[in-house]
Amino acid sequence: MSEAQRFDVLILGSGAAGLSLALRLPSSLTIALVSKRDLSEGSTLYAQGGISAVLDAKDSLASHVADTLDAGAGLCDLQQVQLVVEHGPDCIRWLFDQGVAFTRDDSATDAGGYHLTREGGHSHRRVVHAADATGKEVETTLEGRARARDNIRLFERHIAVDLLSARKLGLKFDRCLGAYVLDQASGEVKTLLARFVVVATGGASKVYLYTSNPDVSTGDGIAMAWRAGCRVANMEFMQFHPTCLYHPQARTFLITEALRGEGGRLLLPNGDRFMPRFDERAELAPRDIVARAIDHEMKRLGAECVYLDISHRPADFILEHFPTIHAKCLEYGIDITRKPIPVVPAAHYTCGGVVTDEWARADLPGLYAIGEVAYTGLHGANRMASNSLLECLVFAARAASDIQAQLASAPPPPEVPAWDASRVVGPDEQVVVAHNWEELRRFMWDYVGIVRTNKRLQRAKRRIDLLRQEIIEYYSNFQVSNDLLELRNLVEVADLIVQCAQRRHESRGLHYTLDFPFKDDAQLQPTILFPDSYRPRQGD
Ligand code: FAD
Ligand code: SIN
Repeated sequence: MSEAQRFDVLILGSGAAGLSLALRLPSSLTIALVSKRDLSEGSTLYAQGGISAVLDAKDSLASHVADTLDAGAGLCDLQQVQLVVEHGPDCIRWLFDQGVAFTRDDSATDAGGYHLTREGGHSHRRVVHAADATGKEVETTLEGRARARDNIRLFERHIAVDLLSARKLGLKFDRCLGAYVLDQASGEVKTLLARFVVVATGGASKVYLYTSNPDVSTGDGIAMAWRAGCRVANMEFMQFHPTCLYHPQARTFLITEALRGEGGRLLLPNGDRFMPRFDERAELAPRDIVARAIDHEMKRLGAECVYLDISHRPADFILEHFPTIHAKCLEYGIDITRKPIPVVPAAHYTCGGVVTDEWARADLPGLYAIGEVAYTGLHGANRMASNSLLECLVFAARAASDIQAQLASAPPPPEVPAWDASRVVGPDEQVVVAHNWEELRRFMWDYVGIVRTNKRLQRAKRRIDLLRQEIIEYYSNFQVSNDLLELRNLVEVADLIVQCAQRRHESRGLHYTLDFPFKDDAQLQPTILFPDSYRPRQGD
C-alpha cells in the first residue's frame, strides 16, 4: 500500500469547471487533478450551443439578469445571478486568451467580431460558440494547457470514493482533508491529501434511463459532499432537454437548442407546428415549457417522437452552423438539409446540488464545489440555456481567488488512516450492480420524470430504500469497483431528488406534479436538505 500523497489543492473532475480552476491557480501551487475516465470525458466535451455572456453593445447585463430570473421561475438568487452575469464577458476573454477559437463574424462589430447565436429564454443573441461543438473546443484547449503545466499532476481513470472529513475521522476540528481515490488500473485505493479540496464532478443525469449526458454524470460529488456533512439543495429541478435525436440505433445525441434559435420548428408526426399553442415564444420558450409540451403531445397522440425541422434554411447555412449534427444525423440516414429530425426529451442538467456561497465554498471548511455539481442559486427552478458553462467558469475563478486568499491560514492536513484494503471481491458483483443500475434508472424515468405525482414519488422512494440497503451492505463487505461506486452514488442522488420533490407541494419550473399543478408563492424558497452530520460553518 502506498503512502498518502500531499498537494496544495486537490481537484476532483476535469471538465470546464475543474480545468479552468487548475489553470487559474498560480503555478507555484501543487495541484492534483483527478478524472474518472480520460481527462476530456465529461459533459463539457459534448456541449453544443455555447456560452452566454453579454458581448453585444446592443445587449445589456440587466437583460441577461432578467432573462435568467424569468427562466428560473422566481427561485434564482438575485445576487448570484448578478455576480455571474457581470463576470461573463471577462470569462469569455479569459477563454479566448487560453486559445479557445469561437466562431467569428467579422460583420458583428458591436459584438467584437464574435458570432452570437440565440437559444430559449434569451431575449438577445448572446451565446458565443464554436459552430455546434463549443464544448469540444473549450475542453480540448484547456486540456492541452493543463497537460503542459508542471505543477498539475494528472490522475486519469481514478475515481474518488469519498471525501476525508477531519471530524468523521475522529479529529477535533471540521475540515476537508482530501479524498480516497480508486486507481482503476491497479485496483489500489490511494489517499490524496490537500489543504483545499474542490469537487467539480459534474451532474447526475445518469440517474435517468434516457439522458443527453455521458456515462460519468453519476452525481458522485453531490453524494460524496452529502455524506461528508454538506447541505444539498433543489434536487427536484432536474432539467430535461427537449430535443435529443430519436433513433433506435443511436446512443442519445443532443440536437442543440441553437438550431431552434436559428429558426428550427417543432412538428407533430403529421407535420403540424405545435409550440405556438403552448407559449407565445413558441420554440424559443424556456426548456421546461418546451419539454413538457413535447411530452404532452407524444402522450396525447401515442407518438414515439416529434420532429425538429430546419430544412427551410439554406443548405450552406445549415452546414456552416451545424456541421456536427448534420454529420451525426447522416450516419442514421437523416439529411437535415432536406428532412426533419426525429426528437424526444431526455434528462440533461442537474439544477440543484451542493450548497455553495459566492466564493464557491461548501459547508465543510476547506471544501469547494464548482460547476454542475454545485447549487449556487443561479438557475433557480430552471436553468436558462448556455448559462451552465458560464457558471463553471465564473465560480472556478471565484474559487481560485478564495483559495489564494486563504492560503496562508490553511493548515497542511494531518496523517489519516489508509483505506482498508482487506475486503474481498464480491462474488456476483457484475450481475447485482447491472441489475440494480437498470432498475433504478428505469423507475426514476417512469416515476420521477417530466410529470410527477405523489403516488409515483412514494413508489420511487420505497424502491430506493430497498436498493440503498442492499448496496450499503454490498459496499461495506466487498472490494470497491468503479461500477459499484457509481451505483452507490446514483442511489444516494435518486433519494435526494425524491426527497426534494416530495417537499415541494406546487408546480414550478422543472418540477411539475399533477397533484399540485399550480405555482404557490408561499413556497418561494429553495428546498434545502440537511444531512445528519451537518454543522454550520464556523469560518476557516
Ligand atoms: P463535466 O464536464 O461533466 O466534468 C465532470 C468531471 O468530473 C469529469 O472529468 C469526470 O471524469 C469527473 N468525475 C466525476 N465523478 C468523479 C469521481 N467520483 N472521481 C473523479 N472524477 C470524477 N451548457 C452550456 O452552458 N452550453 C451548452 O451548449 C451546453 N450543451 C450541452 C450539451 C450536452 C450534450 C450536455 C450533456 C450538456 C450541455 N451543457 C451545456 C451543460 C454543460 O455542458 C455542463 O453543465 C458542464 O459542461 C458541466 O461541466 P463540469 O465541469 O461541471 O462537469
Ligand atoms: C444546447 O446546445 O441546446 C444545450 C445548451 C445548454 O444545455 O445550455
